[in-house]
Amino acid sequence: MEIPSVHRLADARIPTVDGEFTLLLYENSEDNKDHLALVYGDVEGHDDVLVRVHSECFTGDVLGSLRCDCGEQLGTSMRRIAEEEQGIIVYLRQEGRGIGLLSKLRAYNLQDEGYDTVEANRMLGHGADERDYAIAATILEDLGVSSVRLLTNNPKKIESLTDHDIDIAERAPLEPHVNRHNADYLRTKVNRMRHILDLGPTNGYSQTNVHGSSLQPLEQRVEHYYADTGLPFVTLTYAQSLDGSIASNSGAPLAISGPKAMDLTHRLRALHDGILVGIGTVLADDPRLNVRRREGDHPVPVILDSSLRFPLDARLLDCDGPSPLIFTGPNPDPSRRETLESKGATVVPLSCTPDGGVCIDTLLEALGDRQIASVMVEGGTQVLTTFLRRQRVQRVILTIAPMFLGGTSALDSLAPPQQPDAPDPSDDVPRLKNVQQRWYGEDLVLEGDPIWPSSE
Ligand SMILES: NC(=O)c1ccc[n+]([C@@H]2O[C@H](COP(=O)([O-])OP(=O)(O)OC[C@H]3O[C@@H](n4cnc5c(N)ncnc54)[C@H](OP(=O)(O)O)[C@@H]3O)[C@@H](O)[C@H]2O)c1
Repeated sequence: MEIPSVHRLADARIPTVDGEFTLLLYENSEDNKDHLALVYGDVEGHDDVLVRVHSECFTGDVLGSLRCDCGEQLGTSMRRIAEEEQGIIVYLRQEGRGIGLLSKLRAYNLQDEGYDTVEANRMLGHGADERDYAIAATILEDLGVSSVRLLTNNPKKIESLTDHDIDIAERAPLEPHVNRHNADYLRTKVNRMRHILDLGPTNGYSQTNVHGSSLQPLEQRVEHYYADTGLPFVTLTYAQSLDGSIASNSGAPLAISGPKAMDLTHRLRALHDGILVGIGTVLADDPRLNVRRREGDHPVPVILDSSLRFPLDARLLDCDGPSPLIFTGPNPDPSRRETLESKGATVVPLSCTPDGGVCIDTLLEALGDRQIASVMVEGGTQVLTTFLRRQRVQRVILTIAPMFLGGTSALDSLAPPQQPDAPDPSDDVPRLKNVQQRWYGEDLVLEGDPIWPSSE
């Protein structure tokens, strides 16, 4: 095996949003390309240094193209290395898995005609992957690391660096965000190039662009729905255990989602204008319903509370974010209403259904009139049940945590309450179409658009 030699030509300080790196430019004995190393902290002589060997991808790295996960991998690697205050990104100038930018763009056009990335490269007379990692290994040797933790999903890269005597102590996986532009590409990487990626149960088959509508960004769907109907787009979202419980039987507040799924919940909160729960949840959990795990606008808390049981010391009355909108029955107690309004809440009397709950149809109209174009319905059981029973849900995002709770069930019967003896609804149950799934840490997040067979 020919071992290339490398020689540092220059290095410079590169401050980035993640922290300050040093960029080293190398010449080598193999080609006349400017291969680079982006180094954070002191790496020489260290074990288990976090390393990414990244091949140039102009479209992903520079333009932020969604056709691949390259830009995301580079960004994540820089962030993780900066967090550890130590690490290296070897940046190899082998664009387009080594076939160059011109051929890569031609291969993209073939992929748009339906060929996968491997077939497209071969049709252009190239190999599926023409990259070589000998220079990367020599650069790592020059930097003097004893062993590395390699940020990669690509077993070929691990094999090649190992063949070049790099001691890989561990593989550090990089989890991509799957979108409709890169889903097939990522699946091809898994199925044809052995990449170690958990894309969920869709691994074995293609989830192609025919499902594009479900993958449309939520904001876009909200905008269209509100413009067309004047009503808020409703996202039903909650966390349940494996046995379908959303709370423990003791009634004590319990975190069901893990940290990554919680991050998603807060991202979703920031995406919606309103967040809705029933008074049962306020009494049980005293929630804040605001955005705390990321930057973003807080949604307006919307509470269904037909008898104005809202506690005067609820955290919703003095936490960050807009004051709550409390929808209640038609004749609220005047002094209770005054006290709540003196604490910042807005109490809105509305008509109620025969069984006493706030009428959902009127509620959605009232929210639409208040320019609330989207609402995230978080729970609890009775509220989730009402929205599904009334078929007033446009999107469902469900977190399933790997635990058994044997507690409060997520849903009651979906049969209308005035028809307890209605025929078995098993043929007519709401289902999800355009289903997507993704792991957030140990939690599975399943989402889709609900359909009711009787309304199809
Ligand atoms: N895991 C999760 O993601 C999650 C999320 C939220 C809540 N939870 C859990 O859910 C539990 C609370 O559930 P819950 O069923 O007792 O309470 P809930 O669904 O939060 O609130 C139900 C109450 O809301 C009022 N309401 C008014 N109009 C309504 C309507 N149209 N439909 C339904 N309810 C209406 C009713 O009280 P009035 O008759 O007095 O108006 C009803 O009793 C808590 O243990 C909480 O921890 C879990």
